[in-house]
Amino acid sequence: MKPISLTRYLIEEQHAGRINADLRLLIEVVARACKSISIAIGKGALGGVLGEAGTGNIQGEAQKKLDVLSNDILLEANAWGGHLAGLASEEMDHSQPIPDAFQRGNYLLLFDPLDGSSNIDVNISVGTIFSVLRCPDGVTSPGDEHFLQPGSTQVCAGYTTYGPSTMLVLTVGHGTHVFTLDREVGSFMLTGRGVQIPADTKEFAVNMSNQRFWEEPMQRYVGDLLKGKEGPRGKDFNMRWVASMVADVHRIITRGGIFSYPLDSKCRDKGGKLRLMYEANPMAFIVEQAGGAASTGRQRMLDVQPTGLHQRVPVFLGSRNEVAEAVRYHHESD
Ligand code: AHG
Ligand code: MN
Ligand code: MN
Ligand code: MN
Repeated sequence: MKPISLTRYLIEEQHAGRINADLRLLIEVVARACKSISIAIGKGALGGVLGEAGTGNIQGEAQKKLDVLSNDILLEANAWGGHLAGLASEEMDHSQPIPDAFQRGNYLLLFDPLDGSSNIDVNISVGTIFSVLRCPDGVTSPGDEHFLQPGSTQVCAGYTTYGPSTMLVLTVGHGTHVFTLDREVGSFMLTGRGVQIPADTKEFAVNMSNQRFWEEPMQRYVGDLLKGKEGPRGKDFNMRWVASMVADVHRIITRGGIFSYPLDSKCRDKGGKLRLMYEANPMAFIVEQAGGAASTGRQRMLDVQPTGLHQRVPVFLGSRNEVAEAVRYHHESD
């Protein structure tokens, strides 16, 4: 049977009362912006889009040209639709309310415009991550503080992965669904409805070069994974690390696994490496909706009360029984 388009899927969700017209438009607009980003990335060196932008962001990272371009594409696409009250991004110091010249809506959009920047210049998969929140009642011109809502209040989250094919993975709180971009037609097509992450796994994803900087529970947890069949876990584990969160999470959505970016002595002062609002929370929502789990190691990710737009957190997500194991090691040490 021919897969249905994202447009048809969204209309069906609207008819079923699971999304309203504004959220439908918002998702369509983000998806369209992601198609533009996909085209820019696909041109590679021919499009003059590779390399450094020569600027930095608030996190102290050097921005790539594609970080800036992807941010601009998402900003421009979303400014005038009338569905948003404000936007926030990894690449902007502060959130931006929708300008007075445009009609304002009731949603707040947060995004990581280009995830996996370090992989752009080596032609490895990168992505875009986004999260949608409701603008608090009575707020017409939202500031950063209005975005600081726990992940459990997200109304929608998604990511696109720009790999051998461009894919969009989406949840509006009724399962996680996978769409593949038909490049000839220019439409995302539903190729995986209600995907489920296997509860158990024999695959873990972590940057092992940080091992000596980890906390004691993480040392013990990974130490036991590496002992394999002869160790307490009783099975041999495989390891993968793309260093693009979207690509690592997409593998987990597809075949299971555990992804972690734990606290280490290099990022301890910042609270972790990955950002809560536009990396950890949207991925946690997507993973939970696919039957997986997401934790900081000590707390369910979606329950974390945010304190800053660019706040960082330790991340453990994926196959739910394996995430529970990692959490158990942390609780034992506390
Ligand atoms: P971004 O490119 O949006 O700044 O995010 C990069 C993140 C994430 O995608 C990935 O999992 C992690 O950084 C990789 O970190 P290491 O280079 O330390 O492995
Ligand atoms: Mn970055
Ligand atoms: Mn990122
Ligand atoms: Mn990024």
